[in-house]
Amino acid sequence: MIEYIQSERAFYLSGQNYSYVMYVDALGNLQNLHYGAKIEKADIPYLIEEIGEPVTRELHDLNFFSRERMRCECGAYGRGDYRESTVILKRSDGGAISEFRYVRHILQDGAPNIKGLPHARSGGQTLAVTLCDACSDTELDLHYTVWDDSDVLARNIVVRNTGKETLTVKKAFSFCLDLPNRNYKILQLHGAWTRERTPEITDIGHGVVRLQSMRGASGFEVHPFAALLERDCTETQGACYGAQFVYSGSFALTAETNSYGNTRLQGGINDTQFSWELCAGESFTAPQALLCYSPQGLGALSRAYADFIREHIVNPAYAYKHRPIVINNWEATYFDFDNEKLFAIIDEAAHLDVDTFVLDDGWFGKRNDASSGLGDWFVNEQKLSGGLKAVVERCKQNGLRFGLWFEPEMVSPDSDLYRAHPDWAIHKKGIEPIVGRKQLVLDFTRKDVMDYIFEIMRKILSENDISYVKWDMNRFITECTSESLPPHRQGEFVHRYILGVYDLAERLTNEFPQIFFEGCASGGGRFDAGMLYYFPQLWTSDNTDGYERARIQWGTSLIYPLSAMSCHVSACPNHQTGRTTPLRTRGAIASLGATGYELNPALLSAEEKDLCRSQIAEYKNIEDLILCGDLYRLSSPFESDYFCEMVVSKDKNRAYVVGEQLRALPNSPVEYLRLHGLDESKTYRIAEYNKTASGKTLVSIGVA
Ligand code: DGJ
Repeated sequence: MIEYIQSERAFYLSGQNYSYVMYVDALGNLQNLHYGAKIEKADIPYLIEEIGEPVTRELHDLNFFSRERMRCECGAYGRGDYRESTVILKRSDGGAISEFRYVRHILQDGAPNIKGLPHARSGGQTLAVTLCDACSDTELDLHYTVWDDSDVLARNIVVRNTGKETLTVKKAFSFCLDLPNRNYKILQLHGAWTRERTPEITDIGHGVVRLQSMRGASGFEVHPFAALLERDCTETQGACYGAQFVYSGSFALTAETNSYGNTRLQGGINDTQFSWELCAGESFTAPQALLCYSPQGLGALSRAYADFIREHIVNPAYAYKHRPIVINNWEATYFDFDNEKLFAIIDEAAHLDVDTFVLDDGWFGKRNDASSGLGDWFVNEQKLSGGLKAVVERCKQNGLRFGLWFEPEMVSPDSDLYRAHPDWAIHKKGIEPIVGRKQLVLDFTRKDVMDYIFEIMRKILSENDISYVKWDMNRFITECTSESLPPHRQGEFVHRYILGVYDLAERLTNEFPQIFFEGCASGGGRFDAGMLYYFPQLWTSDNTDGYERARIQWGTSLIYPLSAMSCHVSACPNHQTGRTTPLRTRGAIASLGATGYELNPALLSAEEKDLCRSQIAEYKNIEDLILCGDLYRLSSPFESDYFCEMVVSKDKNRAYVVGEQLRALPNSPVEYLRLHGLDESKTYRIAEYNKTASGKTLVSIGVA
């Protein structure tokens, strides 16, 4: 709900468990008065008198010093707010001073349809507050979209050039959130290839903490997410504020605590390598950020984000639908396959009851290892005689559907595509390009490049019976320039690149709505809400080790629904860690997501095949919980010897508990695990033990 209270010039926004209050002070500043627990509208005059007016009076009397005390909705450069700015606009005279003042606002039903960028799709109510820059002919629209049944608040900023001169947007973050300093800790998800999304909680202290990616993608190292935690915040209690982006490019998130009692959390497109030329009359739209307030710890924050992403980000045609249970040949064969090897996998897979066979990297061009062939999207008939059709036919004979791997954004220097169009790869004349995984990145800021890739993929997807596409991306961007852009627009390159990726994803998913797309980036290197808008699930990590995976999925579940995580059972010893874990354990961990297999089923023993079959049958039985349920994290693999999570149906009639003992303990003590999220007045049957107990007992005493 959003209300404008004329008498106080105040905006009162509220969602399921939060209120967000702002007002326009006598000088035209849009000040934040409160974001957090629900408060009464009747208390707004008190907030204005207690929080807003003292800084306005000081600002009026001393005329500048106090802006740092102010909780601003958009930080401006050069007029006494010495914190990091939210938006920086450079004019032709070189100046960049700004002072943003309220001019008008509008209230609309629904969420803004942000053209070219992924965004929250439906419902809600949106407030657009327009501020003008007192120092230039520029307007900013600050968008706030709220949903009554959600604790997620979507925000973004549109910068509009209302003057006659061209200006340069040097920075255009998506949101600015000024909170009173409550000595917050900051939670982030850091990582690397095969070590994705590891939670880390640190103090913010004074000064600026900056989380960022400069890779042209959200990346592994620092996730596009941060949460501010009050001191008593745990998994189940205490307040916290999350921020993540519906964006997949280079981002920055900063948390800044100053000496005047304020903490500013803000973020958006990484400003380090960014600038955007804005001609008269043009506007620039920053990507959407999803803020979330939880009064009850990180568990509630995760559930709010999971519900929101399923309901408003993921394509509604797939959000709650059965996900293909795939068998993927990557770890079974890597590049070394032919019909015979694939057919052996397909024939065996059919007996496991999976529904889709996915042919991974190596089916095209001259691709026998990672050094060549990317860009040559023509079937390699030396490996696959009879082409894709023969493989598809074999799948059909076995009652399986067929999925195919692509890496649309890349080109190998050793490829026909590169030999024909060397200029299509991102490069800077005179500088030897960095070749990551022996490949270059195509210049997706160029329409001719994109059109070519679209057409070639369209041809394959329309000529073959393909029900699933795995869209991979195995290196980040270097030499961030394009010959298609004039020198003064080179700062637009990184953002334009990701707009190109979105454009291709949009065109292909619109053209082939019946195909299920899974995103992937060398594992989980571009796992974000932006990609989830186009691809309902993302490959979580190349690390499928039963022990490590529990940690990776725990971290990922902090802000994404389980259905967003593609999770496979792979062979042992594990290819990444060399560790051997029980097949039962691997299956249990992979069942906490969109499950599948990544192994050669022909190498499994009869007993193991039986176990896979029963895993798949069990999975089908609980799949609705994975797709629609509420996650409760019970025991952290980072803090104990046990990993345990459970998922509870919305009606609380069913629940699914997965546990893993991470470390063998001799003569180990008995521990009782208290369940969460159950209806205490109901009686539950524990299917595996064939025992019954009340919700109250399971919650307060637990299971051994
Ligand atoms: C990286 C992916 O994460 C793997 O699953 C596999 O598809 C390889 N790329 C193929 O090159």
